[in-house]
Amino acid sequence: MRCAIVSRSLDLRAYYGAALDRVADRIESIMHPATPSGEDVQMALAWHPPADAFDHYPNLRAVCTIGAGADNVLACPSLRPDIHVVRVVDPAQARLMCGFVLWHVIWHQRQFATYLANQQAQVWKRLRQRRPQDVPVGLLGYGEIGRQVATELAGLGFPVAVWSRTPKAVPTPLRSYHGTDGLFAMLAETEVLVNLLPLTAATRGLLNADVFGAMRKGGYLVQVGRGEHLVEADLLAALDSGQLSGASLDVFATEPLPHGHVFWSHPKIVATPHDACDVSIEAVADTLLATAAAISAGQRPPAAVDRTQGY
Ligand code: GLV
Repeated sequence: MRCAIVSRSLDLRAYYGAALDRVADRIESIMHPATPSGEDVQMALAWHPPADAFDHYPNLRAVCTIGAGADNVLACPSLRPDIHVVRVVDPAQARLMCGFVLWHVIWHQRQFATYLANQQAQVWKRLRQRRPQDVPVGLLGYGEIGRQVATELAGLGFPVAVWSRTPKAVPTPLRSYHGTDGLFAMLAETEVLVNLLPLTAATRGLLNADVFGAMRKGGYLVQVGRGEHLVEADLLAALDSGQLSGASLDVFATEPLPHGHVFWSHPKIVATPHDACDVSIEAVADTLLATAAAISAGQRPPAAVDRTQGY
């Protein structure tokens, strides 16, 4: 089976060449655009595909994304309705995300920004410590990754509430909310808001002034969903007014974050380059093999997203 490697933003060969080598006896990978013709290409591995990418492949059956979020492939205008979009589901990725989110929640709870500033000024000052149970965390999104993050935060003693589009059963001591009323009920008791939502028409712009205003004063945002979830001006206003005390941002509406953007240097923002959690070589290789096997058998690949829902 032939697989096209398609990205306008990442050198996928440099990142996932080892996965492509692992499956090379079953799947031949070729760099996009295939020449002279892409007619014998049946699958693709993609991240931020160019708008016309899939026009080159009239017999394409499935596109594997290299991430948990499939939005950038689903938004590609040349993605025909009959092409399956497959996410890489990787338990190791969820563990990386847990570490990343926990680190930022504790950064806020233990006031590390203040320690860092004090160290730089050579100030010896003990701070009043806050127990985890005094810092309620609200999680937006309760998929594979959200479940693990919620469990680990609760294990450290943080009160954890989760919000999702549809009602979800959660184990104690987690609390669960859904729908618009549920969102605002959760926010009323949220100090740290962690965004793990997929990007869909319903979630675009969800991190806005209403949401920040409904949180506990002095709250904190951990943004690891997608840049388009955030209304940037509303975040800056919430930081300026003190409604939020800070934010950790890993994803941005424009990536790479443009040189000179205020988020680079804002004193209340910690910015990282969309690096919270990569999927592993093993998971990419397994996903490619399972997808190739399914489409050869004329079946829907495991982990294919529901294209009407976007995840
Ligand atoms: C990364 O952003 C992912 O979707 O896995």
